Amino acid sequence: MPTLAKLVVTDLRNIIEADIRPASGFNIFYGGNGSGKTSLLEAIFLLALGRSFRGHQQKPLIREGEKQATVFGETQDGLMLGIQRSLRGPQLIRIDGKKAESLAELTRCLPLLLINTDTFLVLEGAPRERRRFLDWGVFHVEHSFLTCWRQARLALLNRNNLLKNDASKAELEPWTRALSKNAEMIDQFRAEHAELLRMEMKSKVQELLGTQFAEKFALEYIRGWDKDLYQQIQSDLPKDRKYGHTTSGPQKADLRFKVGAYNAAEVLSRGQLKLFVCALKIAQGKLLQKATQKSCIFLIDDLPAELDKSNITKVCRMFGELEGQVFLSCIDQQSLDRDIQNISMDQGQEYRLFHVKHGIIKAQFSGSV
Ligand SMILES: Nc1ncnc2c1ncn2[C@@H]1O[C@H](COP(=O)(O)OP(=O)(O)O)[C@@H](O)[C@H]1O
Ligand SMILES: [Mg+2]
Repeated sequence: MPTLAKLVVTDLRNIIEADIRPASGFNIFYGGNGSGKTSLLEAIFLLALGRSFRGHQQKPLIREGEKQATVFGETQDGLMLGIQRSLRGPQLIRIDGKKAESLAELTRCLPLLLINTDTFLVLEGAPRERRRFLDWGVFHVEHSFLTCWRQARLALLNRNNLLKNDASKAELEPWTRALSKNAEMIDQFRAEHAELLRMEMKSKVQELLGTQFAEKFALEYIRGWDKDLYQQIQSDLPKDRKYGHTTSGPQKADLRFKVGAYNAAEVLSRGQLKLFVCALKIAQGKLLQKATQKSCIFLIDDLPAELDKSNITKVCRMFGELEGQVFLSCIDQQSLDRDIQNISMDQGQEYRLFHVKHGIIKAQFSGSV
């Protein structure tokens, strides 16, 4: 199981050194504003994905006055992961002591889903956010997806460069073929996954938002072109030359989350939107579990914000049912502690509470049930 059994964070934002043994079930980090809760979640995210969820700059992530930030983690199965960010030089990633070949190699080790204020971008942001979300699921379930995706990206890149340089049709042809061929496979993977996601989400929306919403809920997948892609790219050529890029293809795919005739983001309240994105991510986690028998790690920054008491309980219960490792942050211990204790007890999961203050993280309670 991809579960973190040990986590050591050094010189990341305001954390000088945190050395913790997370529970395999729920982990709650509580503390006041600016204490370091989000930074700790950011460290786990960095370890799992090789990037931060707060911008791409190296410098702000490294503690002021220091030259490097490191995160080390060991899974329950003994897999050792390490990542180091320096002010100068490239980021170093080690998997079991060996230099990682690619970010994808790291990403496969610890499937992880994050819920924070930026998660709303899946609903409100550009199509890229939704493609990324959809592809996360396909990537972890279909191993051949990455090869198709990389080949399509390469073909697209080359074709777009040639378009910008007024290249002939014959020069474009190999890339047009490569893009079309890989796009068909990408589309098939994505369409299948979107359908599974739609079904899984419908039941989660029902649990979190009620039957009325679930009945009106729809998820539509848009593949990014109308007819046969190769044919379409041929007829798009004058347009593509004018814009200097390929206007149809998998790079234009999107998802629409609908409630009746509206996009979910247009009609749901802020709290309902939060429940909706929880349904979305829980559904994604559930699909991964069904396909691979692996649970993913969930990071949820400030779960109680915008949710009422009964919804906090419902959401926590759903995370508990996934039986994966969950890292939750909150300002006030009272807002989650009782619920999580009860859920851990009912479901026989490990639970640990950590207090965060001035970047120091202290374990408070070890509730092995
Ligand atoms: N590079 C850095 N060096 C030192 N402190 C930092 C750095 N980046 C952010 N901080 C500080 O770290 C603290 C923790 O931030 P954060 O983890 O977002 O807190 P919260 O507990 O509210 O989630 C903040 O006070 C912030 O100013
Ligand atoms: Mg925070």
